[in-house]
Amino acid sequence: MESLGLRTVGSHCSLSEMDDLDLTRALDKPRLKIERKRSFDERSMSELSTGYGMHDSPRGRSVLDTPLSCARNSFEPHPMMAEAWEALRRSMVFFRGHPVGTLAAVDNTTDEVLNYDQVFVRDFVPSALAFLMNGESDIVKHFLLKTLQLQGSEKRVDRFKLGEGVMPASFKVRHDPNRGMDHLVADFGETAIGRVAPVDSGFWWIILLRAYTKSTGDLTLSETPECQKGMKLILSLCLAEGFDTFPTLLCADGCSMIDRRMGVYGYPIEIQALFYMALRCALSMLKPDGDGRETEEYSHTAVNKFNVMPDSIPDWVFDFMPLRGGYFVGNVGPAHMDFRWFALGNCVSILSSLATPDQSMAIMDLLEHRWDELVGEMPLKICYPCLEGHEWRIVTGCDPKNTRWSYHNGGSWPVLLWQLTAACIKTGRPQIARRAVDLIESRLHRDCWPEYYDGKLGRYVGKQARKYQTWSIAGYLVAKMLLEDPSHIGMISLEEDKLMKPVIKRSASWPQL
Ligand code: GLC
Repeated sequence: MESLGLRTVGSHCSLSEMDDLDLTRALDKPRLKIERKRSFDERSMSELSTGYGMHDSPRGRSVLDTPLSCARNSFEPHPMMAEAWEALRRSMVFFRGHPVGTLAAVDNTTDEVLNYDQVFVRDFVPSALAFLMNGESDIVKHFLLKTLQLQGSEKRVDRFKLGEGVMPASFKVRHDPNRGMDHLVADFGETAIGRVAPVDSGFWWIILLRAYTKSTGDLTLSETPECQKGMKLILSLCLAEGFDTFPTLLCADGCSMIDRRMGVYGYPIEIQALFYMALRCALSMLKPDGDGRETEEYSHTAVNKFNVMPDSIPDWVFDFMPLRGGYFVGNVGPAHMDFRWFALGNCVSILSSLATPDQSMAIMDLLEHRWDELVGEMPLKICYPCLEGHEWRIVTGCDPKNTRWSYHNGGSWPVLLWQLTAACIKTGRPQIARRAVDLIESRLHRDCWPEYYDGKLGRYVGKQARKYQTWSIAGYLVAKMLLEDPSHIGMISLEEDKLMKPVIKRSASWPQL
C-alpha cells in the first residue's frame, strides 16, 4: 500500500475519525442539515430540508410502519415505497434463522429461474443500504460474515485453485432435510455465463463493511481479526506484484456487473473506480500490523501515456461531447481507448472522489446535456452507445442477449438510479436525481420492477428482463431515502483527500513538438 503513496493508519484512528469531517458530522444524530453546506448548494439545501431539520428517530423506521416524513414535511412517501419495502422483504434469505441476504429476483411469472434465486454480492449492496438507512443492520452484518466465511473456503475450478481473497459472485442457502440443517453453496463465477471470477465482489464487500460501520457506529465488526484478514486478502489479490506498471487492475471481460462478453477486457472504469473506492475504504478500517501528436512518447513524462492515436477516436464522440461536460472513458490500455460512457464507473468515480470536484461537475453536466441519450425514458443507460452490426458480432461474439440497446449493450437499468442519486447529492445537484426518480415512478411499479429496459430511449421492458428484480426495488428505495435524508450519503461517499492526489506534470517532450 505504501508504494501507492497511501497513508498507514494508527490503531487509535477509528473509521469515524479517519474520514472527512463533513461526512462524519453528517452522521452525527441529531443534527441540522445545514451542516452539509459544503456538499449541497443553497437552493437544494432548502428544498431538501423543508420542515425536516432534525433526524428524530432513525432506528427501525420503515415507510411501512412509521412514515415519519409524511406527516410533517414535503416528502410525501410515494405509494410505490410501501410496495417496494414489501417486495424487498419478500426477497430476504435466511440461514439458520438469521437473515443473510436478498435473492436477485422473486419473479413468480416465470419458471425459468436461472441463477436469479441466489444472493449476489453486488446485487445485495442496494438492499443493504436500504436496510441500513432504515436502521436494520442485522441482515447486513450476517451477510458480511457469511460471505467472509465463503471467501475462506477452498475455491477450486477443476484443478485450479482460485486466489485466497476472491469473494463469491453469489451464494445460495440449501436446506438439508435429512440433517435438518442449512448450508451455503457459493458460486465464484464458475457457473456464471462468462465463467469469470467477479472482481467487483471483493470491492463491494469492503465498501459495504465501511457503510455498515459508518451507519451503525459499530467498530467491533470491522476490527475483528476475521474482517481485517478478509480485507487484506482482497487487497493482496489486487495489489500483488505482477507485470503491470500502472496501479490499475487488469481484468477479464465479464468480471463485474457486466458479466458477459462486452469488450470491457483490460482496465474497465467500473473496476478501477471500485478498486480506488475499496482502497480508500480499507485504509480507513485497516489497523496497522508489523508486516495527441503523431510523435510517440517514451519515458515517465509522456502525456499520451498509452500511445493512443487520434484516428482511433470514433465519430460519435464528436457529436456526443457537449461544449460543457465530460466523462471518464470506459477503458484505456496500450494504443486502446474505449470511448464508451459507462454509468457505474462514472458514478463511483464521483462517490470515491477519484474524480476531482471539477471532473465530477463535468460528469453531471454531461448527463444534463445528454439526458435523452443517457436517461431517455428510463434511468439509466448502463453504457452508451451500444455496439451494432459488425462490432456487435466481433466484440460480443454475437451475444443474443446483448443485442443493440438491450441488456448490457446500451440497455437501461433502474438499479443505477441509486448510484446516480448518490452522485447527484454528492455534487449538490439533487434536482437531476428527482427528474430520474419521476421517470422511475411513472413506470417501474406498473411494469413489475423489471431488471432492465430496452431501446434507444429505454422505452420497452427488457426482452429477457426478470420481473421483481430485487436491486431495481432496493435501488429505488435507496434513491428515495437519499433524497429524503441526504446525510445518508456519508455511508457510500468519500470526500476528496487532497494528500492523495498526485501532481500531474506535463511531458517534458511536449513543448518541443
Ligand atoms: C445478471 C447481471 C449481473 C447481476 C445478476 C443477478 O447476470 O448481469 O450484474 O448481478 O444478473 O441480478
